[in-house]
Amino acid sequence: MGEVLQQIEVSLGERSYSVLLGYNILPECVTRLREFCREKDVFIVTDTQVEGYYGKVLGELLRKKGYSPYFYVIAPGESSKTWAEAEKILEVMLAKNFSRQVPLLALGGGVVGDLAGFVAALYRRGVPFIQIPTTLLAQVDSSVGGKVAVNHLCGKNMLGTFYQPCAVWADLTTLETLPRREWRAGLGEVLKYALLGDRNLFSYLQEHAPAILARSPAVLPVVIERCLRLKAEIVQKDERDEGMRNFLNLGHTFGHALEKATGFQKYQHGEAVAIGLVAALSLAARLNMISPGEVEEVLRLMQVWELPISFPETILEDVLLFLHDDKKVEKDEVHFVLPVAIGKVEIKSDLPNEIVKVTLKESCCTVQ
Ligand SMILES: NC(=O)c1ccc[n+]([C@@H]2O[C@H](COP(=O)([O-])OP(=O)(O)OC[C@H]3O[C@@H](n4cnc5c(N)ncnc54)[C@H](O)[C@@H]3O)[C@@H](O)[C@H]2O)c1
Ligand SMILES: [Zn+2]
Repeated sequence: MGEVLQQIEVSLGERSYSVLLGYNILPECVTRLREFCREKDVFIVTDTQVEGYYGKVLGELLRKKGYSPYFYVIAPGESSKTWAEAEKILEVMLAKNFSRQVPLLALGGGVVGDLAGFVAALYRRGVPFIQIPTTLLAQVDSSVGGKVAVNHLCGKNMLGTFYQPCAVWADLTTLETLPRREWRAGLGEVLKYALLGDRNLFSYLQEHAPAILARSPAVLPVVIERCLRLKAEIVQKDERDEGMRNFLNLGHTFGHALEKATGFQKYQHGEAVAIGLVAALSLAARLNMISPGEVEEVLRLMQVWELPISFPETILEDVLLFLHDDKKVEKDEVHFVLPVAIGKVEIKSDLPNEIVKVTLKESCCTVQ
């Protein structure tokens, strides 16, 4: 059996919970399930890919402890994060007549976590919800903080709420099977954390860049723990996204616009965020808010991780259009989170469109 390497507390009064982090910790976590669960039944939402890798293991662990696991398996990918899918899951729960005490476990990446959390919040006004994140993005970001949602034709995450999990079990062993592209995309979010709040983390990333890319157990727990602590700290200060949580949008204003402009087909979310980080850095550099040397440092790290840093100029106009379409736009003013140094950000909302356009064109566009 593995051991829990770290326990990170997310302190939100009566909604507080722990994130357990370590290699091969699922057996230990399942032992602790009793704390949240007085029932025999356990409902698990996962996707076909993750189920193939870890469904059997989790099922057996649960059965060994006397639980009756029921798996609901969705198709992998963003297209499953819909109201229709949520409704289907709710129908199954209703048909099984699960009580309010039956916990819902989300085994998978951010898609499974967001969808399952949304369902957990709705079923009988809320059941115990446990996140078991299996992607890097989900372990450092989406599993903590309680934002749950499904998409609508009108936009991503348009239907959702805040619903905190009662535990997060981040088993680092699961990351070993993650496809390389997903891994790199997750590194885009890791970089975001370092830039928005932790210069020391950035230095650590620089120093260990190849080992991190190679998912070495010597460095991974450190990186993921630091990101989680930052996320927890920000969520504790601003649970409902009314202030500081905005900092987490670093790279996302551009990133979302880029995802929309390409119909969510061309880039993984973390890849779009990576390009968005370059856009934010370039804009900050143009406004003399950050030194060119620091921007260079970030770009060098991105190069080692082979993260994308530019997009085709042919879609620039669309990206600009979608920038104004973001949820975060108020009175048609786009709120940009800009780095003023590695580890520190500020929000700027009065940037002339022309400056944004010229900067993107010069710093983030490739001519094809
Ligand atoms: N709630 C939040 O605060 C928050 C924050 C960031 C992102 N998100 C959401 O997260 C979603 C993206 O999440 P994601 O990047 O984890 O994508 P994902 O859940 O689609 O997973 C990516 C792919 O990896 C596969 N996979 C997952 N774990 C695996 C493993 N261990 N081994 C092999 N394959 C595995 C999945 O089957 C899927 O095909 C988006 O919908 C985004 O909106 C939510
Ligand atoms: Zn993100």
